[in-house]
Amino acid sequence: MAPEVLCTLALPKPFPALVSDAATLRTAGHLMSRDELVSELRERPVDVLCPQLRESVDGIVLDAGGSRLRCVSLFAVGFNNVDVDAATGRGVVVANTPGVLTNATADCAMGLMLAAARNLCEGDREVRAGRFAGWEPEYLLGQDVSGALLGVIGFGRIGQAVARRALGFSMRVVYFDSTDPPVAEDLQGRVSPTPLDTLLREADVITLHTPLTEETHHLIDEPALRTMKDSAILVNTSRGPVIDEATLARALREGWIAGAGLDVYENEPELAPGLTECANVVLSPHLGSATIKTRAAMAELCALNALDALAGQTPRHCVNPEAWARGAPPPLIHAAT
Ligand code: DGY
Repeated sequence: MAPEVLCTLALPKPFPALVSDAATLRTAGHLMSRDELVSELRERPVDVLCPQLRESVDGIVLDAGGSRLRCVSLFAVGFNNVDVDAATGRGVVVANTPGVLTNATADCAMGLMLAAARNLCEGDREVRAGRFAGWEPEYLLGQDVSGALLGVIGFGRIGQAVARRALGFSMRVVYFDSTDPPVAEDLQGRVSPTPLDTLLREADVITLHTPLTEETHHLIDEPALRTMKDSAILVNTSRGPVIDEATLARALREGWIAGAGLDVYENEPELAPGLTECANVVLSPHLGSATIKTRAAMAELCALNALDALAGQTPRHCVNPEAWARGAPPPLIHAAT
């Protein structure tokens, strides 16, 4: 039986060619509800499933995959849409695409930070609406980025890439990360760990780079927003539910903080009521990794993870290698390089 891979949405080059060389690639061409995924996997079992970050893969979906499903290969670094414990318990490895989207996502965070601090999107709206009447001494004044204190919450690869960029903008950088990650050599001595409460109280700009877990769900809630400076800018390129978005809309409207730059939302693609009416928030549609090169690199890694699994090898970027602790399934293809 030829190995089969199911993608819900079509993935960019080189994914199709890499996978089709070794397996039968089926692409649904649309996002699938949980029920659709369940009936699809029951009716036409596959070895590898490549879902999208908006599709939830829980124990019921994994059960529908039966004993044939060996790997869930994500086209994303975030894996909060997959019940990893359920996958591990069923001997299914879960793979993701870390590293290749670090710079693109960090660039996006900097873009949102600068745009929000300097009213660039509001300015754009003013110009387009014909309301720009010429330079004035106090027109659309924003916050200084240079010299400001940046608080990075979540200091993994992307948080550190943002810190590196911020230092280039003459910002001072503190960070909070409950996992105490290793700090890259070039950042040592230039950034300091800080308790979360201090960071919230003192930072001029706060940027979120934490994975979405039970602990980080609504990490930025009403008390956190009320702790921040009224001049603070909040940036989120991680996952929407890290912020209590309805409360953020209130905070922006009532001036608890000065502004925000958001790339991700609590219930994508819906936004909390009132958010779009706030002039002091810059809203981008989950574009963190959206560059041609980055998406191609993600597609390649997603394919290589799938091919590793088909070859009976733990995927090169696997979030639960313990799923195969009692032995990997037999190879169906030769190992990819
Ligand atoms: C991810 O990879 O988790 C992003 O949200 C999409 O690139």
